[in-house]
Amino acid sequence: MKSLVRENDQVLTTSAPKRLHIITFGCQMNEYDSQRIAQMLMASHCLTPQAEDADLIIVNTCSIREKAEHKLYSLLGRLKRLKRSNPALKLGVAGCVAQQVGKKLFAKVPELDFVVGPQGLYTIPQILERLDKGQKHISDTELTKDFTIPYIDAPLPKKGDVRAYVTIMQGCDNFCTYCIVPYVRGREVSRPSDDILREIGQLVAQGVKDVTLLGQNVNSYGKGLDEGVDFPGLLKKIDANFPQIRLRFTTSHPKDLSDELIGCFGNLGTLCEHLHLPVQSGSNRVLKRMNRHYTREQFLEKVQKLRQVCPDITITTDLIVGFPGETEEDYQETLSLLEQVRFDQAFAFKYSERPGTAAARFKDKVPEEVKSKRLTKLLEIQNQIGLEQYGRFQGKVCEVLVEGCGQGGKLSARTRGNHVVNMEGGSDLVGRLMNVYIERACHHSLVGTIVH
Ligand code: 5AD
Ligand code: SF4
Repeated sequence: MKSLVRENDQVLTTSAPKRLHIITFGCQMNEYDSQRIAQMLMASHCLTPQAEDADLIIVNTCSIREKAEHKLYSLLGRLKRLKRSNPALKLGVAGCVAQQVGKKLFAKVPELDFVVGPQGLYTIPQILERLDKGQKHISDTELTKDFTIPYIDAPLPKKGDVRAYVTIMQGCDNFCTYCIVPYVRGREVSRPSDDILREIGQLVAQGVKDVTLLGQNVNSYGKGLDEGVDFPGLLKKIDANFPQIRLRFTTSHPKDLSDELIGCFGNLGTLCEHLHLPVQSGSNRVLKRMNRHYTREQFLEKVQKLRQVCPDITITTDLIVGFPGETEEDYQETLSLLEQVRFDQAFAFKYSERPGTAAARFKDKVPEEVKSKRLTKLLEIQNQIGLEQYGRFQGKVCEVLVEGCGQGGKLSARTRGNHVVNMEGGSDLVGRLMNVYIERACHHSLVGTIVH
């Protein structure tokens, strides 16, 4: 959960701006959406880090796992008390939980003023006008097939930020059986490539040097657009227009990772050597029940091809343990896949039942304590693998982009392979590319010294 504040907020109106506080749950996509909300409201609102000071509070929610949803309800419990002491305060819920629960949220929390789903974000300015005119309990949770992502100027990066995200597509058509995303974010919609290039141009002009393209399944970018550009085509366009940046993307579905896309890692200078490729399980039986459309063998083949094209590529993944019907044998196959692939990092989750998904109807649920045990053991194994993987850089010189001051006054930098490097140095180096000698690896980071 993050509160969004920008240090370099500028107020463009002459009347006193209202104060907006945004609380974001969940993924990078949500963080980006929150920045877009702030950008849309910039003419009338400035951001405040304190919920207590705000005239408008928007909670941007995530429903991918049940835990995130529970956190929302306890937060709303606190926020509604603020509204009781300040009736002028406007309170809105945006994002996936808003989509899923819809108007019923008003019954649960009558203090709420509005509820908007991921496609409804763009109507927030109109909703605020309607609230000012006295309307109550406004919701926009319509999911339409012909939704297009409106163009708004790029969200302003925080002062000194060298990294930024750019959404290239929204929604998902895949219907993995555990996943709520297609139900709450709707069908896949891609943004026109010119909008994306324009947004990257604005970010670069503001000093951004590392751009991550965002989407639920970026590999299928271009579906439904008239311009006939696919994801490798988009990467090539960006590479040609902004040869000076570092380019990354997330998330990729293994089934759509084409040879052409793999080839991009070998021939596009901007494309960083990092791929997040969620495998979810190492068992073919489970993958089939998850509706993932690839086998363990096909996944391994893609990893092998990636490493042929780009031997040092960082590969990270997502995993689910305790999916309904997962046996001890299935789980052991996931562990053996970890040993075989040797991911740099894995984000592992206990299966969480999501209402309305196909897997919610599967009978053979795995008990909670088994899921917990499996997760603990898996993380233990992966932590060791990750440390060894990070260790491959020890004694080498890597090019890093200095991002800012991190823990203990040290500089925090990032390799092209997405490894965080902590090192001594002055804040004047932020935004600079430096060569760094890697002294040692820690869990999820490296320690280095600048090579002069
Ligand atoms: N339970 C647990 N993990 C889930 N994920 C998605 N849906 C669920 C669920 N119902 C995980 C997947 C996905 C990541 C973003 O969240 O691993 O890749
Ligand atoms: Fe969910 Fe599967 Fe779509 Fe990813 S690809 S968002 S896991 S349905």
